[in-house]
Amino acid sequence: MLVCGAFGNSFSQSTMTQEHNLPSLFNDDGDGFIVIAHRGASAYYPENTMAAFRAAVEMDAEMIELDVLLSKDGVPVVSHDATLNAHTNGSGRVINHTLEELKKFDAGSWFDQRFSDQQIPTLGEVLAFASGKIAVNIEIKTGAVTDQIKGGIEEKSLELVREHNMEDHVLFSSFNYNALQHLKELEPEIPVALLYNRGWYNRLLPHQLLKQFKADAFNCSYRQLTKRRLADLRTHDIPSFIYTVNRESKMRKLINAGVKGIFTNKPDVLKRVVSEYH
Ligand code: G3P
Repeated sequence: MLVCGAFGNSFSQSTMTQEHNLPSLFNDDGDGFIVIAHRGASAYYPENTMAAFRAAVEMDAEMIELDVLLSKDGVPVVSHDATLNAHTNGSGRVINHTLEELKKFDAGSWFDQRFSDQQIPTLGEVLAFASGKIAVNIEIKTGAVTDQIKGGIEEKSLELVREHNMEDHVLFSSFNYNALQHLKELEPEIPVALLYNRGWYNRLLPHQLLKQFKADAFNCSYRQLTKRRLADLRTHDIPSFIYTVNRESKMRKLINAGVKGIFTNKPDVLKRVVSEYH
């Protein structure tokens, strides 16, 4: 596991003021910056499918991001939406279908007929694929979180991570901070990022939020990266991962600001932009 305090000028090794657990990368190019394929290479492939994750690896992304929900029979499955309507040929809520039922839906045709063979992957399937190849950011969707620590989506996901020897190569995140607390209670060393939630805790600065929820990193939309938050991230040497950036000019701006990583639907474009700094 990589332990670092990595907010500084672009790619510089800043002085460590606080320790943050971050995942180790399988294909680290040594620049201290992480190219994250948001829901896979989702500009070119249907989001959150094996096709999108495979393409991210081919494009040499350093991490894939995916979203996790539970099926009716309690299996962590990869889907951003709580309902099936937009990204499959099914309808209704994911939680109202068993894994066997979910597997029958076509999760690719909404994007392009060429991908009609794509199914909703389980978290286990993606981790089996990613193990030894690429780090994974597992976003626990808010609606799947309960008060239950034992047997909840956090523990089930953690068990799969352990099963696939990926403990040192995952970053958990959630807009639901109970999920982060549950994960740290289950496994204090597991890296967790707090997804900044507009409207909640608006007055707290990143370092205050991280302290309160024992998080290792601060993730937010580029729209939420105000001067005040950026200054706080710099002052407290907090790793930050910013979503979702597909424009080259914005990528450069964020890299120059010293963010630790960027979520993009176009990892090939971000890789090219990052290479300009080497
Ligand atoms: O995790 C980064 C980003 O994916 C968070 O937003 O809406 O895609 O879950 P959302």
